[in-house]
Amino acid sequence: MSSPEFGIYVHWPFCAAKCPYCDFNSHVRAQIDEHAWLRAVAREMEFLATDLMPALGSVGSIFFGGGTPSLMSGRAIGETLDRIAELWSLDADVEVTLEANPSSADAERFRDYRIAGVNRLSLGVQALNDRDLKFLGRLHDVADSKCAIRLAESLFERVSIDLIYARPGQNVGQWCAELREALSFGCEHVSLYQLTIEDGTPFAALAEKGRLVQIGEDQAADMYEATQEIMEDTGLPAYEISNHAVPGQECRHNLLYWRYGAYAGIGPGAHGRLRHGGTRIATRTERLPERWFARTASEGHGFAEIQVLSREEAAREHLLMNLRLAEGLDLDAYCREWGRDIDGTKIDELVKGGFLVRHGTRIAATRQGALVLNSVIAAIAEREQAMIPRETLSAPG
Ligand SMILES: C[S@@+](CC[C@H](N)C(=O)[O-])C[C@H]1O[C@@H](n2cnc3c(N)ncnc32)[C@H](O)[C@@H]1O
Ligand code: SF4
Repeated sequence: MSSPEFGIYVHWPFCAAKCPYCDFNSHVRAQIDEHAWLRAVAREMEFLATDLMPALGSVGSIFFGGGTPSLMSGRAIGETLDRIAELWSLDADVEVTLEANPSSADAERFRDYRIAGVNRLSLGVQALNDRDLKFLGRLHDVADSKCAIRLAESLFERVSIDLIYARPGQNVGQWCAELREALSFGCEHVSLYQLTIEDGTPFAALAEKGRLVQIGEDQAADMYEATQEIMEDTGLPAYEISNHAVPGQECRHNLLYWRYGAYAGIGPGAHGRLRHGGTRIATRTERLPERWFARTASEGHGFAEIQVLSREEAAREHLLMNLRLAEGLDLDAYCREWGRDIDGTKIDELVKGGFLVRHGTRIAATRQGALVLNSVIAAIAEREQAMIPRETLSAPG
């Protein structure tokens, strides 16, 4: 699957309730002014298209992420898409994804999203038993998920589901049975995340007090192994650590991101990576919605940071992102782009140890390597040979 030239990520920062495991930029507010959000998003996109980066290329993917974008009206989605189409040219087959929660109130809006132009829905199913959904603080139950999946499959060309596994008390057998049930729904893209206890969340506080006991590392590794087996047997191999798809059904926006392509991040707390000639520009907007609204009103955009990355920083990001992908990193392309070489002896050592595989000019993490990916990346990066001296490029005027 080829990745698009350029993508747009739009962040909707609100949720109906905050899940106790989640550290995404999501906030619960008594009232949300959708008109104000639309105005602010439009201003930020105009700034991006006219002042910051006039020539960004054709848009091949648009991703409404959150938070819970399925709290938005279809009209708001349609207006945002219209504005994008006014500012940039769109690929004829542009992928338009929306992250949705499966509660019945959200599902009532699915038809409107389809009419507005969304062609791919990503559903946060998370678990297929009501006790665990309650534990995860979700507002939906299994029956809601099943209805939402059926409806989504009748409306959208492409449907994906998210599940969280390695939950406290869950064993390998239970998880495998749940995963097989999830696969029986026929979705061609599935994202499977091991539960992570994120600092500052209610789950972290419970874990600290010993009231939430995570499953052991060995058991988590067994679950990961079993997950890969089942997904490969079912024809949805991993194309990234947590993302699985029928070949050809990979999320183009995900691919763009992990192939280290260019994308704009719009809305509170969104990150972007833009390209200007050979340089990469990292953008980050104000995280707190109220601050972001205030900044877009006073400055015409909510960008809190627009930073030209040094070649060393960009090369490191490129390595980090590519090694999450099953297709891995093309050493020749990497060397051409950044003028840096990766130490062949280190690669050989990691191949010998069973952490990497080498196919022609590409290297990729094995299952064993994927379990300790950060250490694999650190080992490679440490021995990377800089062929060009470190330099910090100045920001474009
Ligand atoms: C932006 S979030 C969710 C979108 C949507 N609001 C939802 O909850 O369904 C994207 C995905 O990240 C996963 N996720 C979030 N926090 C996690 C955590 N602490 N551990 C594992 N997975 C997590 C969930 O599966 C979630 O669907
Ligand atoms: S609904 Fe999604 S984004 Fe919102 S708090 Fe829960 S996991 Fe986080």
